[in-house]
Amino acid sequence: PSPFLIDSHGRRAIDLRVSLTDKCNLRCTYCMPAEGLDWMPGQELLTDEELLRLIRLAVDSLGVTEVRFTGGEPLLRKGILGLISEVGRFPSRPEMSLTTNGIGFARRAEDFAAAGLDRINISLDSLDPSTFIQLTRRDRHRDVIAALDAAAKAGLGPVKINAVLLRGINDHEAADLLAFAVERGYQLRFIEQMPLDAGHGWNRTSMVTADEIQTALSARFRLTPHRAARAGAPAELFDVDGGPGTVGIIASVTRPFCGDCDRTRLTADGQVRSCLFSRSETDLRAMLRAGATDDEIADTWRLAMWRKLPGHGINDPSFLQPDRPMSAIGG
Ligand code: GTP
Ligand code: 5AD
Ligand code: SF4
Repeated sequence: PSPFLIDSHGRRAIDLRVSLTDKCNLRCTYCMPAEGLDWMPGQELLTDEELLRLIRLAVDSLGVTEVRFTGGEPLLRKGILGLISEVGRFPSRPEMSLTTNGIGFARRAEDFAAAGLDRINISLDSLDPSTFIQLTRRDRHRDVIAALDAAAKAGLGPVKINAVLLRGINDHEAADLLAFAVERGYQLRFIEQMPLDAGHGWNRTSMVTADEIQTALSARFRLTPHRAARAGAPAELFDVDGGPGTVGIIASVTRPFCGDCDRTRLTADGQVRSCLFSRSETDLRAMLRAGATDDEIADTWRLAMWRKLPGHGINDPSFLQPDRPMSAIGG
């Protein structure tokens, strides 16, 4: 049997996405209600030691080569810098990246680079401070702009920007966002809104599709498909006007890329998910706390991944949104 995380549809997971907390300091309307959610109780979260044991196992025994830290908002986890330094000291050190909303990152960027973080993806849905407040319900636009700048200066590039467009709110900004990114050397990626909001309010008509995004951008930019192989990356890349810049579209809904998926996920409370949209999870925390051996945990993780479904099923009539929202899964 393979030591790796292979599934019955011929894919292999090499990219581990670890959620460090389900908490967040923004309240993006497409993600959370204004009042927030019932956060996971502290004792249910993996401790730093437990997390490191699982990450080490994934890297040493399961063939994981990339680790991405997500949330909720991962910067809210107290020990995040220590975790990154520890993973950076593994003999077979994985590539390490962070997906964050950027709040409070600017003053810590150098520390993250020094700890060994390789890359960062920062969310920014609008260039207009008042639209930003409307979307996130918090007045933190300047923090995010500062985070982008500090990340680039600290060498955490290529810095990527994640943007979700909402119809009638920020969808008129597609080309402006791209102009901003190209000018500053960031790689912008537009993400189709997915049915992962806590309120289960997603619908197809309010989702801005990849086709619509391409049309909007074409009014100001000439886009041509990027040559380099896409591999397991969710973003479809386009060169912008022949310049050095590229723009990505993550079209999970209208152009699913599940056939190339190379991801495995660990929630902050120690559950393996084979997919963002899995309807079942595998409890590694219980095993850890019951004294399981590394081999037993590795086998359980392999089995969880072997059973990964071929696709997310969003476009099937019988699709059911997962019970947990994006913020509790890790994006
Ligand atoms: P890199 O391309 O390696 O920089 O990372 P990424 O784009 O996978 O990571 P990021 O955390 O920035 O995610 C960007 C968007 O892609 C988020 O909305 C994620 O939820 C989404 N995403 C990430 N992985 C998957 C996946 O396996 N399936 C789907 N459908 N969406 C994903
Ligand atoms: N659909 C698509 N993207 C989402 N994000 C959060 N919720 C959703 C959703 N329902 C985005 C965030 C962030 C990235 C990690 O995921 O805006 O940029
Ligand atoms: Fe927080 Fe990200 Fe959800 Fe926005 S999308 S509320 S930044 S977890």
